[in-house]
Amino acid sequence: MTPTWAQLCYLAAAVCFILALKGLSSPKTARNGNLIGAIGAVLACVTVFFAVELEHELSILVAIAVGTVIGVVGARRVQMTQMPQLVALFNGVGGGAAALVALLELQEATSGAGDVPTFDLVATAFTILVGAVSFSGSMVTFAKLQELMTTRPVTFPGLPVAFALAALCGLGLSVLLVLDPVMWVGVVLGFAGLLLGVLLVLPVGGADVPIVISLLNAFTGLTVAAGGYVLGNTLLLVAGTLVGASGTFLTKMMASAMGRSLVNTLFGALKGGSTLGAGEASDRPVRSAGPADVAILLAYANRVIIVPGYGLAVAQAQHTLRELVDELMAKGITVDYAIHPVAGRMPGHMNVLLAEAQVPYEQLKEMGDINGEFKQADVVLVVGANDVVNPAAKTTPGAPIFGMPILNADEAKQVIFMKRSMRPGFAGIENELLFDPKTTLLFGDAKDTMSKLLSAVKSL
Ligand code: TAP
Repeated sequence: MTPTWAQLCYLAAAVCFILALKGLSSPKTARNGNLIGAIGAVLACVTVFFAVELEHELSILVAIAVGTVIGVVGARRVQMTQMPQLVALFNGVGGGAAALVALLELQEATSGAGDVPTFDLVATAFTILVGAVSFSGSMVTFAKLQELMTTRPVTFPGLPVAFALAALCGLGLSVLLVLDPVMWVGVVLGFAGLLLGVLLVLPVGGADVPIVISLLNAFTGLTVAAGGYVLGNTLLLVAGTLVGASGTFLTKMMASAMGRSLVNTLFGALKGGSTLGAGEASDRPVRSAGPADVAILLAYANRVIIVPGYGLAVAQAQHTLRELVDELMAKGITVDYAIHPVAGRMPGHMNVLLAEAQVPYEQLKEMGDINGEFKQADVVLVVGANDVVNPAAKTTPGAPIFGMPILNADEAKQVIFMKRSMRPGFAGIENELLFDPKTTLLFGDAKDTMSKLLSAVKSL
């Protein structure tokens, strides 16, 4: 029985988690939201230590210390563009831990004398299966995003059959575990889950991987909630449900921002529909110019719209970009940033990046608010973005991004792209806008060219 003081601490931690989610919903409050969530997590861990009679305290403390060191060093070292990988890794170990805890509970329950309630066994089977899926699936997403393996969809003849067999096997073993709770069934169920996770993620193409991370995140949440039920721990149940619900919403929002259904994201490659992944550089002729010419285009415009993308984050050019915009505004030019919901590699990527460079929040315009204004723009400056302005999303049925809402940069009078080469964006397809007569390319690393552009604008 959990003592009352501990239940009150759990309640306080649960309130912290809810406030953390609320805080994380806006860039202005996200930092505090994160802190409140961390306080809730520390409170929960400390409470367990004092409220439950633990065995192997020393091993637990050593494990916590090792985990803390890895977590702190990993999170500090990681580049912002590598954040999705980090989330995948953390999420995977969460799912794996929940599955291991359920296996240990199974061992304890089966070695005891009394009968185990059926619902407990259902929750145990669910935790082992889905936790294992989440672990192995997250590891494959990590490998894809870290480019330890190809980012293209991996398919082979018989993959759908193998997937269906693994799913049936997982389901059958879960039923068997509920009817006859023995340890070996739990272990084989775990292995079936691992296989299922790998087969689920292999056919997903690079640009869709963050959606899958979010889905696996929701899986881990549900696993933790079921684990909370098995352990009789209310806080785990609440925290798991919050993660499960928010992960599900995020998955849905990301899929619809990319104009794709979840089924298409997961199984599109099996039907031959998805070809997302790295593509070849084009050798078709384009018009390019140097910083001095581009500076003239910008300085003599009345209205400029900036489209930031993944390349801006890679180059870390956000501070110089903000200086350039300040300079243009000082010349009386109206400048806005157009933010596509999936620009970059994670939700809110551009908002966080530009907030870090002290760009006033009011200058960031969401796609729905600014898309009607491109027609009036004299110049659109596309910095390290590609897919989010690719008209193929509107014009080319069958293109991997077809149906994804895009920023209407093609409607502006002049378009400038800042990128290093003619390589495509993450979706791996050519962008016709690069070859449009009104488009000028300013080649080079965005940080370097942005500094030169800033100096050139200042000198006018
Ligand atoms: P991308 O289409 O990936 O284009 C990025 C561009 O940046 C590339 O054209 C690249 O060209 C350029 N670039 C890279 N490094 C650079 C550097 N150092 N300096 C200058 N340019 C550089 O990016 P996007 O337009 O932001 O689109 C995002 C993509 O990610 C979409 O396909 C989206 O679906 C996908 N995605 C996003 C999310 C979220 S939630 N944000 C989730 C899942 C998938 P060069 O190589 O020629 O320089």
